[in-house]
Amino acid sequence: MSEKFEPVIVGFTCNWCSYRAADAAGTARVKYAPNVRLIRLMCSGRLDPTFVMKALAGGADGVMITGCHPGDCHYIEQNYKALRRFLLLRRTLKGFGIEPERIKLVWDSAAEGMKLGHEIDAFVDEIRALGPLNWPKWTGQAHPIEPVMEVTA
Ligand code: FES
Repeated sequence: MSEKFEPVIVGFTCNWCSYRAADAAGTARVKYAPNVRLIRLMCSGRLDPTFVMKALAGGADGVMITGCHPGDCHYIEQNYKALRRFLLLRRTLKGFGIEPERIKLVWDSAAEGMKLGHEIDAFVDEIRALGPLNWPKWTGQAHPIEPVMEVTA
C-alpha cells in the first residue's frame, strides 16, 4: 500500500497583507491545507532569492511567495522587486532541471483570507501532482528543514 504524498510548502508572507490574511482566515475559520509553513517578512521585497533556494534545499517541495497587490506595497514598489526575483527564481529552477511551477507568487490583501486559503489549497494540489522535489537527487546532499528557520531568525 503506497502512502499519499503530502507536500511541504514554505510560504513567505508580507507582514501587512498576506500574513494578516492568514490570520483573518484563521479567525474566520477558513480551512486550508496544513502543508504550508508560513514565514513572515516585513515586505515581499525583503525576500532574498537565497531564502527560496534554502527552503527547497532544506526539504520544501514548493515555495509560495505572497505580497501586497501591485500599487499597495507599504514600501512603495518593493513588491515589483519581488516580482522580478520570482521570475528570476523560476528561470533559475528551470536551468537546474527543476519544475519552475514549484514557486508561486500570489498577491493578497489583508482582507483576502478566503482567497489566500484557496490559493494555498490549489498550490498544494499542484505540488502534489508534481510529486516530491527530492533535492538530494540534484545535489547529492540531504539537508534537514532547519536551514529555512535559520535564515529567517
Ligand atoms: S508591504 Fe506588502 S509587499 Fe511590500
